[in-house]
Amino acid sequence: MMLKVGGMKLFLMKGLLFLRWAWLCLAACGGKVELHTERRGVIYSPSWPLNYPAGVNCSWNIQGNRGEVITISFHSFDVEESGGCRGDWLLLGPTWKDEYRVCGSTLPPPFISSRGAVWLHFHSQANSSGQAQGFRLSYIRSE
Ligand SMILES: *[C@@H]1O[C@H](CO)[C@@H](O)[C@H](O)[C@H]1NC(C)=O
Ligand SMILES: *[C@@H]1O[C@H](CO)[C@@H](O)[C@H](O)[C@H]1NC(C)=O
Repeated sequence: MMLKVGGMKLFLMKGLLFLRWAWLCLAACGGKVELHTERRGVIYSPSWPLNYPAGVNCSWNIQGNRGEVITISFHSFDVEESGGCRGDWLLLGPTWKDEYRVCGSTLPPPFISSRGAVWLHFHSQANSSGQAQGFRLSYIRSE
């Protein structure tokens, strides 16, 4: 009896996590860009706090007003490392050079843009090991 109850709980938990995953993926990882126009907010990799799935592409746009500064702070970061981050990666822009690509498990420094907008793309390879948690970051817009 107890086991049955426990099993049910686990089943419900898994269901909720799946729904959360499905929602997150629909929002940002299903070929659509998830637009953020709030002054501040939080962005998670898909499935957070579980490891991210293999074979996803996710996009987010943080849209502020002209001349606003947008600061992105990383609170947690774990993206499977590869040479030049050609495997799994998080890409942030715009930057003064072509691109700012990050991977690995070192917390990246804050990313600051004074162009009033920031875009982020996350990619995991189809053959990614599925052993990395991904990232949690926050953003804030200021004059
Ligand atoms: C993700 O994007 C890459 C190209 O950047 C593409 O080859 C791959 O099929 C995409 N994966 C999904 C699941 O859309
Ligand atoms: C994963 O696939 C890519 C090609 O899509 C390949 O370059 C890479 O070496 C593969 N990685 C592993 C760990 O097999």
